Amino acid sequence: MILAIETSCDEVSASLVNENFEVEKHIIFSSSDLANKTGGVVPELAAREAANMMQSVLKKITENIDWDSVKAIAVTNGPGLVGSLMTGIEAAKTLAILFNKPLIPVFHIFGHMCANFLEQKEKIIFPALVLTVSGGHNDIYLWNSETEYLKIGTTLDDAAGECFDKCARMLGLGYPGGPLLSHCAEHGEKRDDIILPRPLKHAKNENMFNFSFSGLKTALLYKIENLKQNSLNTNNNKLTKQTISDLALEVETAICETLLHKLFLAQKKYNISTVMISGGVSANKPLRKQFLEQAKQRKCNAFIPVKFEYCTDNAAMIGSAAHILWNNSKNKKFPVEAVKIQMNAL
Ligand code: KG4
Ligand code: ZN
Repeated sequence: MILAIETSCDEVSASLVNENFEVEKHIIFSSSDLANKTGGVVPELAAREAANMMQSVLKKITENIDWDSVKAIAVTNGPGLVGSLMTGIEAAKTLAILFNKPLIPVFHIFGHMCANFLEQKEKIIFPALVLTVSGGHNDIYLWNSETEYLKIGTTLDDAAGECFDKCARMLGLGYPGGPLLSHCAEHGEKRDDIILPRPLKHAKNENMFNFSFSGLKTALLYKIENLKQNSLNTNNNKLTKQTISDLALEVETAICETLLHKLFLAQKKYNISTVMISGGVSANKPLRKQFLEQAKQRKCNAFIPVKFEYCTDNAAMIGSAAHILWNNSKNKKFPVEAVKIQMNAL
């Protein structure tokens, strides 16, 4: 087994993942209630919460643990909020030194990619294309073999998750915006007077597989102001519940349509038959449904993390990635002192 720890943002998570990529024990603590009060994650507060929660998460994950069956410790070493990362890394280093275990550093985005191995590793055949889409990152990777991957697309500004979060805030829906906006969109209806852009959807050349979501936020801001001029959309100068749901539906549709358009454009160009999505936004129900439908039409083998909790930040995906790094390492040497915070993108 590998004992994994993930603390890159406002979650503190620990997991025991066995070599068959099955999750034996999984603990997640989230400080998103706090972020809901402050309208988003405040790095300093998230870091304090991580430090406060780490001990009880460690206590739970190590309860009745058989240390002989743990071959290594794994930890997210970046990118993320430095204060939160430090708590996880220090905890992992302490365990590795105390119990004399190798310490495997895992790049957070590679962790998200490997969330797809959990409970379905044997079904995945390389090469694959993976869309990793969260609050902090939004990339497409051409994944040639377990440890070889090339970024072929990224966002020029905001990630889709960030766009979900900011649009939800403009609509007064709270944090985290993705699931709240999606829930609100379930009551929405498509309207001819509510059409938002699909940014860079038809871009060519160097931007063919790139994204840009900041303009969508601005377009929503203008649309809200515009709709407020019409009394049919308002009640006491505030947008009606129905108009908010209609706007939420259009935001969600624009994001999902753009993400999947680019992924399947890449799938066609590289002629790859294994496609995956991962990261917090891959918990989005319409995105999952449309992804599976489009993959079926194109006769692709499609993978999404099997549980919602493996989409958003979690330690199980870090354990999964660590098994991949372990299996592909010849000397299995992962010294504790080599683990440092790594903020650069791949
Ligand atoms: O992977 P993650 O937990 O953290 C980062 O690495 O950034 O992703 C968090 C992001 C947030 O922006 C959140 O709003 C979004 O994932 N998210 C969703 C859903 N669940 C989480 N977005 C859309 N629909 C969802 N159901
Ligand atoms: Zn993440």
